[in-house]
Amino acid sequence: MLTFHIITLFPESLTSYIGESILSRAQEKKLIKIKVYNPRDFAEVVGTPEYPRLKVDGRPYSGGPGMVLLPGPILRAVGKARGKTKTGKWKTIIFSPGGTVFTNAYAKNIIDKKITDIIMICGRYEGIDARVKKILKAEEVSIGEYVLTGGELPAMVAMDSISRQIKGVLGKFESLEENRISSHEVYTRPEIFEYQKKKYKVPAVLLSGDHKKIEEWKRRG
Ligand code: ADE
Repeated sequence: MLTFHIITLFPESLTSYIGESILSRAQEKKLIKIKVYNPRDFAEVVGTPEYPRLKVDGRPYSGGPGMVLLPGPILRAVGKARGKTKTGKWKTIIFSPGGTVFTNAYAKNIIDKKITDIIMICGRYEGIDARVKKILKAEEVSIGEYVLTGGELPAMVAMDSISRQIKGVLGKFESLEENRISSHEVYTRPEIFEYQKKKYKVPAVLLSGDHKKIEEWKRRG
């Protein structure tokens, strides 16, 4: 069983995707577990008695716009995730656009190494106080060379990609298409699809019943 511990200020942004289809089935089958922790629940109360507020961010020492997430609430959330037991093989990831680029190989490696728990820390605003990375010996991971508004989508992308590498998560059909990246076009009914007065046909080879030729067509992709 692989447990994902997601640290996010916006837990609700994850719920609909996690609750759907394959990731939901994988949880039911007890192949994965997803736990979500909000640093806000571990924040200190500041302000006045009349207007108390939970402090999760602060202005950067370097100046400039934007706010930086405080180390305390995040580290306390991670502490809760880790619990009393330190058993198992843990990995801690901080999502950030400047990190190591996430790939299929990265996902496979997590399964091959028999990691049991992954802590995924989602950043927001200008980033997370750099001491969090040092203290947790975390790895910074990016899902591509573009900047998103937070780490929640990257966490879901990585969780989806890692989960599908676990035996039993995908159905028989889906698991056969590991080569999808380099793979072929696919077609279904009807044989001739008409769109705006033009006819679009399924390639003849696919209707030929000649399996050898079909395999060759797929390989050429
Ligand atoms: N946070 C903002 N942009 C990101 C990206 N591309 N990958 C990971 N985390 C991010």
